[in-house]
Amino acid sequence: MQRIPIVGGNWKMNTTRATAAALARAVAAANGTQDAVQVAVFPPFPYLIEVASALRGSPIMLGAQDVYFEPDGAFTGEISTSMLRDCGCNWVLVGHSERRHVIGECDDLVNRKVLAAVGAGLNVILCIGETKGQREAGEADAVNERQLRAGLRGVSAAQMKSIVIAYEPVWAIGTGLTATPEDAQAAHKAARAVLAGLFDPSTAQATRIQYGGSMKPGNAANLMTMPDIDGGLIGGASLNAADFSAIVQAAAPH
Ligand code: PGA
Repeated sequence: MQRIPIVGGNWKMNTTRATAAALARAVAAANGTQDAVQVAVFPPFPYLIEVASALRGSPIMLGAQDVYFEPDGAFTGEISTSMLRDCGCNWVLVGHSERRHVIGECDDLVNRKVLAAVGAGLNVILCIGETKGQREAGEADAVNERQLRAGLRGVSAAQMKSIVIAYEPVWAIGTGLTATPEDAQAAHKAARAVLAGLFDPSTAQATRIQYGGSMKPGNAANLMTMPDIDGGLIGGASLNAADFSAIVQAAAPH
């Protein structure tokens, strides 16, 4: 099964209106002819429209960092799926570790967001991953399984075509610590086995599973050679167009 690698740039709460547009233009210029890897960027909400216009005509896809599950109404501060589509997004991150562990999102909320986003025609990157304590307690696979089962409750095998999984060990995000390629591969293989049980083996084989957590130009190639690693979700290094593009290059099948 040949899966097309996908690399996402999660800009988090960084950039300004001007630097977001400049970064988008630089990413588009560096990856405009890249067709072996799908590339998406995830700017802050206020800059989506600006970035959408900077990316126009390029194959770089646009996503948001979060979404709310209700279609509209009295939900102060929240953003709906149709608003994202209206701004030119076709991707959204759901369940990022900072949403789970800093903001306090639970599995049930993550699941509602996944269902709303896919139902509205958005593609989803569903993020999962264990904390340092959970890994040290030998609970990593169990935590990832729970987050997958809960996050994908009610999702059909057909809808899995619109979903990418990002395995992001919490202890590796923004810390400079990266899972070894072997540890990451083991987690990805375990996640794929959970998908096979939840859906069927061919759906599991077709689903892209990205690695995230301090992926940089210097470690990307070794991670990408692993058979179950299908790209990356990049935080810090995605704020530099040259670094991000080097990671995209590393994800291309050789
Ligand atoms: P990082 O972030 O690359 O800065 O570790 C990854 C992520 O949070 O998606």
